[in-house]
Order: sequence, then C-alpha cells, then structure tokens
Amino acid sequence: MISKDTIDKVFEFSRVEEVISDFIALKKTGANFKGLSPFTNEKTPSFIVSPSKQIWKDFSSGKGGNVIAFLMEHEQFNYPESIRYLANKYNIEIIETAESAENIEERNERESLFIINSYALSYFEEIYSKNDIIKKYLINRGLSKSTIQNFSLGYSHDSQNEFYKSASNKGYSDNFLEETGLILSTADKKIDRFRGRIIFPIKSIAGRIVGFGGRIVDSTKKIAKYINSPESKIYNKSKTLYGIYESKQFIVRDDVCLLVEGYMDVIQLHEHGIKNVLASSGTSLTKDQIILIKRLTSNIIILFDGDQAGLSASLRSIDMILEEGLNVKICSFPDGEDPDSFVKKNKKDFMLDYVEKESKDFIDFKLDINSDFHNDEDKKVALIKNILKSISLIPDSLKQEIYIKKLSSILKIDEASLFRSFASIENSKSLKKSSRKLYGKKIVKVQSSKNENTSSYIYQLERQIISILLKYGAEEILFEDTRLSKDENGKVLETKKEIRSKVFEKIYLDLQQDEIEFTHSPFKDIFNKLINGFNNGTTLSIENFINDLDSSSSKIVSDILINDEKYQLHDWERKNIYVKKIGSELSQLVNETILNMRRFLIDKKIIELQGFQKEDNKKDILEQVMSYYKLKKVLSAKLNRVV
Ligand code: GTP
Ligand code: MN
Repeated sequence: MISKDTIDKVFEFSRVEEVISDFIALKKTGANFKGLSPFTNEKTPSFIVSPSKQIWKDFSSGKGGNVIAFLMEHEQFNYPESIRYLANKYNIEIIETAESAENIEERNERESLFIINSYALSYFEEIYSKNDIIKKYLINRGLSKSTIQNFSLGYSHDSQNEFYKSASNKGYSDNFLEETGLILSTADKKIDRFRGRIIFPIKSIAGRIVGFGGRIVDSTKKIAKYINSPESKIYNKSKTLYGIYESKQFIVRDDVCLLVEGYMDVIQLHEHGIKNVLASSGTSLTKDQIILIKRLTSNIIILFDGDQAGLSASLRSIDMILEEGLNVKICSFPDGEDPDSFVKKNKKDFMLDYVEKESKDFIDFKLDINSDFHNDEDKKVALIKNILKSISLIPDSLKQEIYIKKLSSILKIDEASLFRSFASIENSKSLKKSSRKLYGKKIVKVQSSKNENTSSYIYQLERQIISILLKYGAEEILFEDTRLSKDENGKVLETKKEIRSKVFEKIYLDLQQDEIEFTHSPFKDIFNKLINGFNNGTTLSIENFINDLDSSSSKIVSDILINDEKYQLHDWERKNIYVKKIGSELSQLVNETILNMRRFLIDKKIIELQGFQKEDNKKDILEQVMSYYKLKKVLSAKLNRVV
C-alpha cells in the first residue's frame, strides 16, 4: 500500500489545473479556468477548474471533485492508480507501507514485466522508425504518422533473436523475458516470439503495456497472420480490450462503444476521427470485458463483417451484454468489408450515417437473420422463444416489457400470450434458482418480484447507508425513534420517542437490533471500517479513509462521494452549513432507509419461509408468514407517511 507520507506529498504538490490541462485545453477566465467538457459533446465550455479551491466542476455532466476524482473519471483510474500517476508526474518517490514478503515479490514481479514490456515497446518503435518498407506498408493502409504514434505501432526484426540480445544486454533476466512471452526458450537457444511483424502494443485502461499483437507483412507466407503475447501475470486476455486506453475518453463522451473485431479496425476508425471503438481481438466477448465497457458507457454497438463467423460471434455476445444490463445494437457490413475497409473507402460521415441507419436492436437483428420464419410455423415459435429468452436476461423489468410489446407489434401476436409465454420462461428460471412456492397466489406474488430487481434494490439501500455515513456519519441530530416489536402473541407494537444521536450511532444500533447484515461484501467491509473509524473518536478524514481501502472499495467510496450532487455542492461551497439546514431532512432520510431495509428483509424472510415445505409444520409457517405480512404492512404504512 502507498504510504500516507507519499499521499500527503502527492496532494501537496499536485495542482488540479496542471493535471487537467494535460488532457483538456483550458482558458483562464477571471480566477478560474474554463474548457470544453470531456464527458459530453458540448459546444460552449462549461467545464470549470478552480485553482484556489483545487477542484473542478463539469456543469454539462454534473461531475466534479478534486484532482483524484478527475483522474478517476477521465482516465478511469482507481484511487491508488491516480496517486501513482500524480507521483510520477510530479517526480515524487512512492514509498510503500509494510507489505508481506509475498506481496512485495508479486508486485516486483509484475513491475518487472511492465518494465520489460515498456522497453520492448520503445525497441519496436525504434526498429519501425528505421524501416522504410514497413512505414510504406502502413502508409498504404492509410495510417498517418500521428495515429501510428498514438497506438505506439512498431516493428520486430525478421531475425532469430535480435530483441533477446538487446534486452539481455540491458540486463533483463531470462526468466522475466520468458514470462512476458516476448522470448521463447528451447533447450539450447532463445528465440524472439515476434519476428518480422508489425507490432500492436496492447495497453491496459491505465495505459500500461500488458502484451503485444504482431501482424505479418507478407501475406503470401503460410504462417498465422497475427500472433499475440501469451497470458501472463500482467496480461489476462479475458479482461482486456484492444484500444481501451486510446478510446476510453471518447466512449465516455459519446456514451456509446463501437465494438469491432480487429486491431486494424480500431486504428483505422481512429484515423478517420471515430474514436469510441474497442476490439475483442478475434476472440469472443467475455463477461469481464463487458464489465470493463460498463465502466464507460451502457451502450454498445457491435460492428461486424458480414461473414458467418462474425454473425455467430455477435449472436453469442448479445445475450451476455443484455444480461449485464447494457443496451446492444448490431450493425453488419456488406460481405467482404470490415469497418477498416469500409471507413477507408467511404470516409467518416458516410460511415457514421451507415452505423446510425443500419444498427438494429437485438429483436430486429434476430428477426432479420431468421427471415425464413415467415413460412415456417415451427421456426417462428422457436425464434419467438429465443427472443423471449434474451429478453428474460435483461435485469430491468420496464425494458423487458417494452421489448415484449415491440415483439408483439412486429409479429402481430397478442401481447397477453407473449407475456404468458414469457412468464413461463421466467418461472422455469426462478424455479431452478430458488425454492418451490407453497402457499398459493398471495405469497407467490411477493416472490415474483424478480431476483435481479430485488438484489439491485438492496444494493441501492446498502449504498445509501454508506453514502449517509460517509457524508454525515459524525453529525449529531434529533431522531424520531420508532421501535417496532412483537409481543408473545405476535402482535406488532410501536413505541416512539425523540432522541439526540450521532448519525452513525443511530444507524449502527438500528441495524444491530434487527440483525441486519449487508449482503454486498464491499459494502459490508466499508461499513465496518466506517463504524470503527467513527468509534475511534477522531474526526474521520475521507482521504485517509479511502486510502485504507482496497482498490475496489475505494472506487465505490469515491463514486458515492463524486456522484452525489449534494456532496458536490457541499464540497464546492466548502462550508458546513448544509447539514444544519437539513437536520430534519437527514433524520428522515436515515429513518426511511432503515425502514426500507427492514421491509426488504421481511420480504426475503417470507420467501425463505416458503422454502420449508414439510407437511407437518405447514400451519406454523403459514402463521409466521402472516405475522411477517402484518409487520410489513405496518412498515409500509410508516414509509408512506415518511415519504
Ligand atoms: P488486417 O487483415 O490487417 O486488416 O487485420 P484485421 O485486424 O482486420 O484482421 P482480421 O479481420 O483478419 O482479424 C480480426 C482479428 O482477429 C485480428 O485483429 C486479430 O486480433 C485476430 N486474428 C486474425 N488472424 C489471426 C491469427 O491468425 N491468429 C490469431 N491468434 N488471431 C488472429
Ligand atoms: Mn481488416
């Protein structure tokens, strides 16, 4: 972990206006700087940097925060990555706090691989810069010098081990060289993996080189057109997308990601000014890759060549993308064309027009490629089921409904019967997942709130609690405290009084009393650390707190802080007047969140109880279920009043 001293130094030396102007053209206006938002496509600048406050605010997207927040939003860094970036920019030595020996070794190993890759990158670029034939090849393919440099393209000697010799001379160890995959080892000699190939460095989202792709120049040779680095401690193929470093900010800005197959597709589109593009590099899309895209946008357009391979790959990707809650469209190109050749021939505007007009959502796409269903009833049934199955994967029930309605109107099939058929797909899914339903319609109704929705609802509630704690945990305010309990007869009792309490104590005690546990482990971890922090009495510094978390938790915390408008206002004003004004609002928010959480857990309890199906205690369970229903009713009534 990075030491506190290092972090303090980084904050001391970093100037938000200097850091941001590496990415955005800023103009001085009075005390502030102004520029065009990198997160939207605006024409008049609304992105403001305040040097005196050391913060930024983007009025067109609503984003804002300190220098770290900028790097996290713009570069998609996590907290430690942002600190490292700044340390590097300001030449601050990074001191790590005590780590286990294994950790240090692991980190050093990864670091060594990165160092070798970055050496290889400059080596290949250098070889390229001296080879006119290869330069001519890339120029012929339509690439300009700046695009070639932006993608750090290079070339590897067509000889057995020139690179190995050079790297060895530099002092890099055989072990690490082999681990990067740049060197292949036989019993008696070392061979360069990439020989006589144009080199495409593969970068992480933070811009570090994790591996390479290499393309032959002479297509008449009977060897693989492309070869790639093998997986290593720093290269996980299923989590990598080609072009992510070069394209990320444009994907955020345009709020859509074009997904193509090949290296050259990405680069050629960039050449033509279409920069929101990533490639899966010839392999089929993975869940982790989709999650990576999800950090940038929730819209994907798959661009694929019109051949069969491209078609099957897109079909496989569709369901995975839908399942992650993203929107997907598919755009195919005329046979024999790929995005590379198409944009080269037709240029930017025509290409953008084409994509706009030809992109189909998954329903239109599936109907399109199965157009023979019109004269074949069995095919039609199978196709409808296939489409309903895809719809059932979408986590948002409103979207599901819209798509079902769309399907009904296109095929002129009664909506109700589509919904029935859909329900049976859903049912068989949830039967597999959870317990059987026992007690008739009433209870089934509770269960029918979909698994995905329920889990995202509780996610929101848990996030809300963390958010309240982060922002107001130490505030002391007046709560109207209501306690709900059951007497021996199962009757629900309600007691009420006003108490003065710190927000974190109130939340902690309420959750304790109901034995409510966080279901999402990062939240649980953050919650425990926050409560501990508050309990230790010192005022909690958010910056230090974030730094003590692992990277995924620190991302969550920063997200919460940055995304919350109230906090931005609060931060922007740098005054604490806010909390006093909304004391009563705050107590209401806390109460409401906890009540909602209780109600949710009661629902869950009811569903659990249905899982028991032994005949002999059926009555018992039914009674329990009914008493939970009553409790829920009381809670709901309370909530309605509060809301
Ligand atoms: P150009 O042929 O130069 O236009 O490149 P391309 O990127 O268009 O290649 P193509 O459409 O043939 O293939 C798409 C992607 O699949 C490539 O970018 C590579 O990532 C991958 N690929 C293609 N051929 C091979 C191969 O022979 N081996 C491996 N491992 N991957 C390949
Ligand atoms: Mn191509």
